[in-house]
Amino acid sequence: MPVTSNSKQENMKLIYLDNAATSWPKPEDTYKAADSYARDIGGSPGRSGHRISVEAARIVFDARDSLSMLMGAGNPMRIVFCKNATEALNISIFGLLNPGDHAIATGMEHNSVLRPLKALEKRGVELSIAQCSPEGEVDPFIINKMIKKNTRVIYMLHASNVTGTIMPVEEVGKIAAGKGILFCLDAAQTMGALDIDVLKMNISLLAFTGHKSLFGFQGTGGLYIREGVEAMLKPLLLGGTGSNSEKFEQPDFMPDKYESGTLNTHGIAGLGAGVDFILNTGVAAIRKKEIELSGKFMEEAGTVKGLRLFGPVDPLKKTPVVSFLLNGRDPADIALKLDEQFGILSRAGLHCAPSAHMTIGSFPGGTNRFSFGYFNSMDDVKAAIKAVEELSIE
Ligand SMILES: Cc1ncc(COP(=O)(O)O)c(C=O)c1O
Repeated sequence: MPVTSNSKQENMKLIYLDNAATSWPKPEDTYKAADSYARDIGGSPGRSGHRISVEAARIVFDARDSLSMLMGAGNPMRIVFCKNATEALNISIFGLLNPGDHAIATGMEHNSVLRPLKALEKRGVELSIAQCSPEGEVDPFIINKMIKKNTRVIYMLHASNVTGTIMPVEEVGKIAAGKGILFCLDAAQTMGALDIDVLKMNISLLAFTGHKSLFGFQGTGGLYIREGVEAMLKPLLLGGTGSNSEKFEQPDFMPDKYESGTLNTHGIAGLGAGVDFILNTGVAAIRKKEIELSGKFMEEAGTVKGLRLFGPVDPLKKTPVVSFLLNGRDPADIALKLDEQFGILSRAGLHCAPSAHMTIGSFPGGTNRFSFGYFNSMDDVKAAIKAVEELSIE
């Protein structure tokens, strides 16, 4: 973690523990790839036929290919670039559901899923929410029991951004496949951090964001669409795709059907490099380190008087996201002290997931959240433990 000066206290070492919001720093190659595209290439991908346009298209294709490899898609053309997971989820929700359809989601979902679904509920889409345990775990049996004749799709997040709880993706995928309904996974918190195999896990749609555990930049993300699903999935945007330009109709083939408008090529160049970093390092090595970091924090912080941990305390059951409250004090006040007195950068509040906080019993005040990442060190964890110890007796 770089040492940076802070406007309030010069030369204070900043400790970044907000990787669930956006990962930082990025691998060196992420910065280099974006810089090199912007300086040395710069053409518009898939538009003109000249050499720098072709080179830009190759960068975009390479990133698609790396993402396809990481999620086991078997075909890079099944991946559509979007500006973030929120856009990918909106396509998966507004593009699929019509009045009279039934959808299932869990009580741990992010607002990127629940707000579009709640908006559609007002327009005649039926919605069932599978309640989760206070640890944020969902019982696949409950989801199975909710399936009706008009159920079209199950929306579930892979891991909670509030508690880190890892959801039973394989079991729910099997249930969906067995009943012939679609399964949409929100992998905003997990792509690059946990193993994902879209084919084996029976995932029909997978929304990812580029700027968290994929080590890309903000403004990047995408949607995996299983073969055949595009026939029933409407795009959110129509427009120029650089293909079939003689027609007024949107192309119906992948990925152009969903990629109207010039892509964020420098962002995609950075994302591709981030994904290549993960492929070279290995998801297993990243996971091992993240388990060690969050495991150590929970083990030590769990003994701090007045500190209440939320979610699973077994690091194997969660991503390195830890929610806590300190002596029931206002999370915003604690987060400010962590920043000003200790240089620890974290997030407090509801984390855009009020339903998750209702589930775990921390609504409406929310929690403090430390989210560790691959570029944190054990020293960062020790500093975080010391800080909460000191604040607990303040
Ligand atoms: C579980 C979950 N889903 C969706 C999102 C939305 O991601 P983005 O803001 O990149 O669209 C987030 C971001 O925090 C998230 O944690």
